[in-house]
Amino acid sequence: MRVILLGPPGSGKGTQANLLQERFSIPKISTGDILRAAVSDGNELGKQAGAYMDQGQLVPDEIVVGLIKNRIQEADCRNGFILDGFPRTIVQAEKLEEMLRSMNQDIDVVVDLEVDHQEVLVRLAGRSTCKQCGAMYHTTSHPPKAVGVCDECGGELYQREDDNEATILKRLTVYDRQTAPLKQYYENQGKLKTAPGRGTVDEIFSRVCEMVN
Ligand code: AP5
Repeated sequence: MRVILLGPPGSGKGTQANLLQERFSIPKISTGDILRAAVSDGNELGKQAGAYMDQGQLVPDEIVVGLIKNRIQEADCRNGFILDGFPRTIVQAEKLEEMLRSMNQDIDVVVDLEVDHQEVLVRLAGRSTCKQCGAMYHTTSHPPKAVGVCDECGGELYQREDDNEATILKRLTVYDRQTAPLKQYYENQGKLKTAPGRGTVDEIFSRVCEMVN
């Protein structure tokens, strides 16, 4: 099963990808997570990517395409994967298709999580993430039991650098301009399924599971 999760920042891609990976035992591949890990390592990739991320801009296609190319060839991807945050441009989608074709594979379904910009602002302003296990929380819709501490592993919760209002607005503009055209791209291939992203996490997960199945 090879799935792409599309949707604006804060639409719940990461949340749903975490649940899907558990349910179907296939890995989630998040370009955002890979890039953030590189930034916190301070390695060459992180130095290149960090400046774009801080400004809410996309990291250049050739960098992220290279990351994905290596990742999808790893052994744990043999039975499938969930792409969270990739592709984000038409060029990335075309490169992905080329890579998969050379491996005799294809994308099965693209799930678009539809959430309006107002809801995105509320969700991202209240988001916190565990430094250790990546579990995600929200101040009102999914608060941790103890402030700043992960329920799952006791790790420290942090707020992402790019989750301030000015950068969120930039990310939304970039999404509208560069990523939203992918909906038509996958609609033309008969692969797009749209899931209304409003509702509880569990409600949305049932919708996504139906689409993926
Ligand atoms: P990335 O990390 O991919 O960020 P994003 O796309 O902006 O998406 P988010 O992670 O912010 O949100 P999400 O949709 O995963 O929502 P989540 O589940 O967390 O990318 C970051 C940056 O990296 C980019 O700006 C770019 O610079 C770079 N980058 C990454 N990939 C790239 C690529 N392919 N090409 C170029 N550059 C790239 O949920 C958000 C919050 O809402 C959480 O608090 C959660 O608890 C809450 N929530 C979730 N579901 C619900 C619900 N149903 N109801 C209420 N609250 C909910």
